[in-house]
Amino acid sequence: MNEITVRAHTNIALIKYWGKANVPLNIPTTSSLSMTLDRFYTTTSVAFADQDQLVLNGQTADATRVHNFLDMLRAKHGDFPAVLVTSTNHVPTAAGLASSASSFAALTGAMFRLLELSEDLTEMSRIARRGSGSASRSLFGNFAVWNKGENDASSYTESFYDEDIQLSMLVAEISSAQKKMPSTRGMQLAQTAPTYRSWVEKSARQLEEMKAAIRQADIEKIGLLAEDNALGMHEQNRSCAEPFDYFTEDTRRIIAFAQKCYKSGLLAFVTIDAGPNVKIITDKATEKILLEKFRANFPEITFDVAHAGGGLEYL
Ligand code: ADP
Ligand code: DP6
Ligand code: CO
Repeated sequence: MNEITVRAHTNIALIKYWGKANVPLNIPTTSSLSMTLDRFYTTTSVAFADQDQLVLNGQTADATRVHNFLDMLRAKHGDFPAVLVTSTNHVPTAAGLASSASSFAALTGAMFRLLELSEDLTEMSRIARRGSGSASRSLFGNFAVWNKGENDASSYTESFYDEDIQLSMLVAEISSAQKKMPSTRGMQLAQTAPTYRSWVEKSARQLEEMKAAIRQADIEKIGLLAEDNALGMHEQNRSCAEPFDYFTEDTRRIIAFAQKCYKSGLLAFVTIDAGPNVKIITDKATEKILLEKFRANFPEITFDVAHAGGGLEYL
């Protein structure tokens, strides 16, 4: 039996994707920029089978999203048999730590090889985007930019800067429980916020500033921009037509402590995705002292250290 196995890492956006200009095509309202993480990843195997099926972390799981993705591929590349997808997340699933990014990037890589499609990363990023927008960025190592584009052809991700700039992320795992508000729905609700348009406009300016800051390896600038962009994203959730909030009391305490550390002269900035967990941006020279401070102040919370990771790998 021909089985293909692929590993893809999660990525964390420093400039966020949080809104869709076209829902079925997953064309975003903003371009986004991310760093792929070494610490968290998904391994996915595919093989032809009797029915489209997903076995996730050893258990049969709801295959609806995977099935829709495979049907999109069938519509594009011609019919093919059912596929058994066997996947392991080395990241909490649906907790705001980007499992949809690593998993649909891995599934895209695996399906391209199973179907013997030409493994062109630009085209693969368009396909991964259809599975989950953030997945289009997880095909690449280090820093990637997803250009929002305006149609299927022009909305794809490119490697932006494939070098380690000594950026470090402390990941505060406040909860690994599945979120109540999936990203797909959360961002569409956020688009109804009265200030959403201005967040989108600011994001375009911040993207250009972020690119310059990365090229200069200016961690302070990167952190300040990422924090403002992320906190702005969460404000949209709180002020939209059906308000919701991914933050918990612990999220707010961690943010406040990071801001206090920055005021005291340490590099410490936050970014938060669609869940309560906080990623603290710092540099490799500061990570140890910062980790000690956070662990001492929040003994009940687990902290992991992540650095820039690599792109898609065939195993
Ligand atoms: P996250 O913050 O983890 O990215 P999302 O709400 O964006 O959360 O996506 C979570 C969904 O992604 C899951 O409910 C599931 O449908 C899908 N998913 C996560 N991991 C896998 C996997 N390994 N294989 C297939 N689908 C997955
Ligand atoms: C907050 O890519 O999970 O992590 O395209 O609907 O699957 P879908 O959404 P998803 O959204 C990610 C949102 C984010 C920000 C980001 O990764 O850019
Ligand atoms: Co996701």
